[in-house]
Amino acid sequence: MIMDFGEHILQWYRVHGRELPWRGTHDPYRIWLSEVILQQTRITQGMDYWLRFVERWPTVHDLAHASEDEVLREWQGLGYYSRARNLHQAAQQIDQMGDFPQTLDGLRSLKGVGDYTAAAIASMAFGIDAAVVDGNVFRVLARHFDIDTPINTTQGKRLFTELAQSLLPAGHAAEFNQGMMDFGAIQCTPQSPRCDECPLADTCDALRTHRIDQLPVKQKRTTVKTRRLQYIYIRYQGLTAIHRRPAGDIWQGLWEPLLIEDAPLPQFEGKMTLLKQGVKHVLTHRILMADFWLLETEHQPALPQDYIWVDEADLDNYALPRLVEKLIENVPPSPLKGGVQR
Ligand code: ADE
Repeated sequence: MIMDFGEHILQWYRVHGRELPWRGTHDPYRIWLSEVILQQTRITQGMDYWLRFVERWPTVHDLAHASEDEVLREWQGLGYYSRARNLHQAAQQIDQMGDFPQTLDGLRSLKGVGDYTAAAIASMAFGIDAAVVDGNVFRVLARHFDIDTPINTTQGKRLFTELAQSLLPAGHAAEFNQGMMDFGAIQCTPQSPRCDECPLADTCDALRTHRIDQLPVKQKRTTVKTRRLQYIYIRYQGLTAIHRRPAGDIWQGLWEPLLIEDAPLPQFEGKMTLLKQGVKHVLTHRILMADFWLLETEHQPALPQDYIWVDEADLDNYALPRLVEKLIENVPPSPLKGGVQR
């Protein structure tokens, strides 16, 4: 029997597909949550978060009634916190609608849900024949059909989406989509793909033209900007000062110590110690270079209005960016810890 591309993927998936806890369900909430977590996170790490989320908030309505801070705290460590904020806001949208929308357009109307996530939920929860296109799908298709259109362009996205849609075997969208993702993750890997044992090798155009290692093509981004951050962790009578990052910038809604950016360090009364210098942190569109200071002082410094003073022992209750969390690990224990001298 001659199998076409889609049938090969389905056949491969039946044998090699990964067993994942959200694959045994048609619950759109659980599927959506897994897709949002996995957007920037590897499966092994994401799984723990997914399990904790569904245990704490078993339904979308439970999530809708959580506070944003609780959701951000549970998300802590995964990064890209706008995902968590969008997740929470979309849960509230769904809660108000009563239930999940069951069409592609309806799903796309949810906060943070784009073409990929809408197609993933539509296919896996509702059996709609919508093809997903993620990094794995781009790679598999670019290679198999030897396509060098850059994947990060409007034209590329359209081309690959239409191609994936045309290959999808009707009525099997959930298996085809997940098969494509697993096939890309396990078989047609970015480095050293297993072409010698590939069920699609006979029809793979890039294998024939020896261009496997050149595909897919990505258009180079213009230069990534570096931001220099100077954090000052203030220790004043067992208290420290933090503020919440505003909208319209990285880490919106998360908390951080006194930040000086694009300005010289102010003079403070007390002892300043440099705890860490030039700590590099890479985000999608930015490189951050951070210095981290400890200011121990007996004089409460005057700070901009949005800073609040909190007990050092209570810092755990605030959602912090991962970088800040790592920096704060370098702060020596407070001599006041134990709560005697107040
Ligand atoms: N990556 C993101 N979502 C996935 C899924 N449903 N299956 C496999 N890999 C994925």
